Amino acid sequence: MPAAARSANALGAEEVRRARPHLTFRINENIITGVNDRISNATTHVPPQSGIRITALEKSFGSSRALRGVNLRAEPGRITGLLGPNGSGKSTTLKCLLGLCRADAGQALIHGKTYAAHPNPSSVVGAVLDSLTMDPTMRGRDHLRVYATMGGHPSTRVEDCIKALGMRDYAHRRVGGWSTGMRQRLSLATALLGDPRVVILDEPTNGLDPDGIHWVREALQDMSSRGNTVVVSSHVLAEFEHVLDDVTILRGGRTAASGSLAELRRRTGADTLEEIYRATMERAAA
Ligand SMILES: Nc1ncnc2c1ncn2[C@@H]1O[C@H](COP(=O)(O)OP(=O)(O)OP(=O)(O)O)[C@@H](O)[C@H]1O
Ligand SMILES: [Mg+2]
Repeated sequence: MPAAARSANALGAEEVRRARPHLTFRINENIITGVNDRISNATTHVPPQSGIRITALEKSFGSSRALRGVNLRAEPGRITGLLGPNGSGKSTTLKCLLGLCRADAGQALIHGKTYAAHPNPSSVVGAVLDSLTMDPTMRGRDHLRVYATMGGHPSTRVEDCIKALGMRDYAHRRVGGWSTGMRQRLSLATALLGDPRVVILDEPTNGLDPDGIHWVREALQDMSSRGNTVVVSSHVLAEFEHVLDDVTILRGGRTAASGSLAELRRRTGADTLEEIYRATMERAAA
């Protein structure tokens, strides 16, 4: 059968790279898929320095200091929220963690190593960052098939993710005609194809309708209940109030508060996440 007549999931990774060389770049820039690692999950192999450790991270863009000392810990089996107002440094922190941006000082480690120091980083981390670019001429299902092939994931995951994200009605259409929310679902599906042990989502509910937001919350809970480390950034507090275990709040490129929700409630005397957030902002501004 000629290669062109074969479906994308029948192509080898090398053929896919040759056919669409730009996709490799996109994986590094926007969507980082992890290979299926269910066996490791099942045996719950936890490395000695598991989870995410970010310490005293600093980053400037020219004269603009985006990060001035960010500290964050994220543990396996827990959902960690990275919160903060627009421009507080959430995306820059996650980009530094994922090796997409070089920090000026400090450390950002995943399972005790920098992203780049992992022999096969894509086998460890699945991430969706806020800047989405997709090939508009590709159909959603084919996009997922290509990424599944490149990540070494079973092709059955494509249909699983399409179903789980409610994309069955439009997965056959070209991505160029999709709405923001539909594209957001596709990004999420792409990151989750390989069921990775560390999941990093930057504003995953942007543009999603209430059903989509509900699905994201359930997906986060499912991932953490299987021992995965989950970090989710948002500036919409109410969306994650009931699923977060731990919270790091940034203000002006610095960690203004960090700890379990219970700890932060005790420390601030506040009850809801919004009250904790406001109390933290006021204290940091004082
Ligand atoms: N590539 C860049 N060049 C110049 N400045 C940048 C760049 N990326 C980020 N910044 C600046 O760094 C600061 C932090 O931006 P960042 O995107 O990390 O914030 P954020 O918390 O993710 O905001 P939002 O909630 O709007 O997504 C901002 O002042 C932003 O303008
Ligand atoms: Mg951001």
